[in-house]
Amino acid sequence: MNIQENVSLKPYNTFGLEATARYFVEVSTVDELKNALQNPAFHAVEKLFLGGGSNLLLTKNYEGLVVKIALKGKEKIFEDENHVLIQAGAGEIWHQFVMFCVENHYAGIENLSLIPGTVGAAPMQNIGAYGVEIKDIFHELQALNLETLEIETFTLADCQFGYRESVFKHTLKGKYVIVSVTFRLHKVPTFKTAYGDIQKTLAEMNVTELSIKAISDAVIAIRKSKLPDPAEIGNSGSFFKNPEISLTQYKTLIESFPTLPSYPINETTVKVPAGWLIEQAGWKGFRDGQIGVHAKQALVLVNYGGGNGNEIKKLAEKVQQSVLDKFGIKLSPEVNYI
Ligand code: EPU
Repeated sequence: MNIQENVSLKPYNTFGLEATARYFVEVSTVDELKNALQNPAFHAVEKLFLGGGSNLLLTKNYEGLVVKIALKGKEKIFEDENHVLIQAGAGEIWHQFVMFCVENHYAGIENLSLIPGTVGAAPMQNIGAYGVEIKDIFHELQALNLETLEIETFTLADCQFGYRESVFKHTLKGKYVIVSVTFRLHKVPTFKTAYGDIQKTLAEMNVTELSIKAISDAVIAIRKSKLPDPAEIGNSGSFFKNPEISLTQYKTLIESFPTLPSYPINETTVKVPAGWLIEQAGWKGFRDGQIGVHAKQALVLVNYGGGNGNEIKKLAEKVQQSVLDKFGIKLSPEVNYI
């Protein structure tokens, strides 16, 4: 195992931001991960565990040890008439894993096509898109306890999944590293096409018979049409979470903004799209030098190349302030600031 010094993190974050890691190591097995953690030279050194770097805003150089999780592997560990359990290494690329499932006709994950990042990072924030969240196909995960260096298993209930939330962002923050995730996929698909864009896209694609592949293709087409490809324009997908507001506040708001979209959460709470709020606040397509707000999806902040993390952080703060001023709604970032 090779611990390198002063490594550029630019290839390791989808914003394409320049920052260096004082120390950097890539681990491909649990033993390599343990060795890195047991190395006495790094006991007291702060650590950052990195998946695909798709939810990361680097605002400065990292003075500690960056551990790139590259544990690979996909294995069918159980199968019956209706389901398969597939265990995947945390370092598997998420979209490649989804494609593997689509090709093998394992259903349930197809709506999550083309999301950047890795398998191990996905449960951290319960990734979701087009009506499906990882919790819907989650069986269990294995994670390394950073104190005991033992592997522990977390069930669905243990993970405490919520909208872009899990126990690993709260009470267990910084205490575990996910090393593998097991998914429970269906052999007989139940298609989820309720998200309006999916039906429209399937119709445009002249799909007459639904299939796992057709849905995956539709989701890929929608994402490509709205979301910038990080290989071309640096970004980390949705920068903010969609805020939940009280029904009372919503009722007041629609008097002034009758077209405000909303999704009911329960009897007292509704979710409203941050992209809509940001667009109405005038930011869609805004550009300042090398950074800006994406012209096709206002929820996505972008680095056209050469922008820096602090500029993006400042832009995010301005966006938050103007949405607060106009609507009285506080936006919370989905990305993690370093
Ligand atoms: N909207 C606007 N203007 C915009 C963007 C959106 O008015 O610039 C409106 C749309 O017209 C629509 C609503 O906002 O009425 C929702 O937009 P969209 O379907 O594009 O989804 P989103 O709420 O902006 C969420 C997720 C995405 C996920 C999509 C599809 C969050 C924070 N984001 O975005 O996830 O792909 O739904 O399910 O929940 C991500 O987390 O990185 C991500 C891309």
